[in-house]
Amino acid sequence: MSTQHSATNSARSRIRTPVEIHSQFREDVATGLRRSQKTIPPKYFYDAPGSLLFEQICQQPEYYLTRTEAMILRDHVADVVDVVGNCTVVELGSGSAVKTRLLFDEYQRREQALHYVPIDISASMLEESARTLTTIYPRLQIDGLATDYWHGLAALPHAHTRLVLFLGSNLGNFTLAEQDQLFTQLARTLQRGDYFLIGLDLRKPIAVLEPAYNDAAGVTAAFNLNLLQRMNRELGARFDASTFAHHAFYNMDQHQVEMHLRSTVAQEVRISALEMRVAFDAGETIHTEISRKFEPAEVRAQLASHGFTPRAQWADAREWFLVSLFQYTGAAPTA
Ligand code: AVI
Repeated sequence: MSTQHSATNSARSRIRTPVEIHSQFREDVATGLRRSQKTIPPKYFYDAPGSLLFEQICQQPEYYLTRTEAMILRDHVADVVDVVGNCTVVELGSGSAVKTRLLFDEYQRREQALHYVPIDISASMLEESARTLTTIYPRLQIDGLATDYWHGLAALPHAHTRLVLFLGSNLGNFTLAEQDQLFTQLARTLQRGDYFLIGLDLRKPIAVLEPAYNDAAGVTAAFNLNLLQRMNRELGARFDASTFAHHAFYNMDQHQVEMHLRSTVAQEVRISALEMRVAFDAGETIHTEISRKFEPAEVRAQLASHGFTPRAQWADAREWFLVSLFQYTGAAPTA
């Protein structure tokens, strides 16, 4: 595994890139576009423009997730710190770490130093947020990992007590099988006594869910279509984004929002770096994301089977979103 060091490292922040994401992108696109249902994994949304678009999605009036979770955290971050105490904070999918600042504010108020290990696929977003955070929080030490969760967890620095944050209902973008792999890897990585704080978007009426992924300003559509532009930029593809449409809907049987890119015409697209041509029928789609909506008891049971014990949970008044604190105890499930 090669380790590259970013040019923006400073005394209090260091960003490492444990694996080369670009070659994975090539492989995943080559495999995904050969499937009968064409797919591209959602982690590739987050190049520099995609990460900025995601920040904008979080501010759209229809996208209730970020606001609701931030409200819960604002009300309960002191309760989290009361339970967890001194720790290294590891964050999976940190993005700009806006919500995490609520936690840092609380540690700063208590005059406690903090070690922060953000893991994010976007190196540019990590560098930008490290710059901002070290300016705001003089006691914060940052060791960022610019990679996906799997490689990030494998490269975690040693620490006494860890609090792993998995906010924003990021778990929703994983299939059940990937979720199981993640919980398995977490259980392998954590020591008994470490904590896991997870934010989950709960099931709710379709009339709320579908607009959240079809905002009127078209930001989610731009975020989805950016994947085509990313393939053009990085893989020499010739996608004409004006011949694709954003398509997002709630699949009630699977309890998940699905996002697709639908080709509006029959066409063939060349991807020069992969030496391949991809044929699309009119109406055919590339499946780009699932966003599962959760039943809390199911996730609790799945985490329990991996040795995580619930310690506390908080929801908003409408019960649209849930933030739960677990401790890794390694114990067998109780019931
Ligand atoms: C990051 N993730 C939890 C977002 C979600 O809601 O599934 C990504 C997203 N996709 C479209 N809008 C937001």
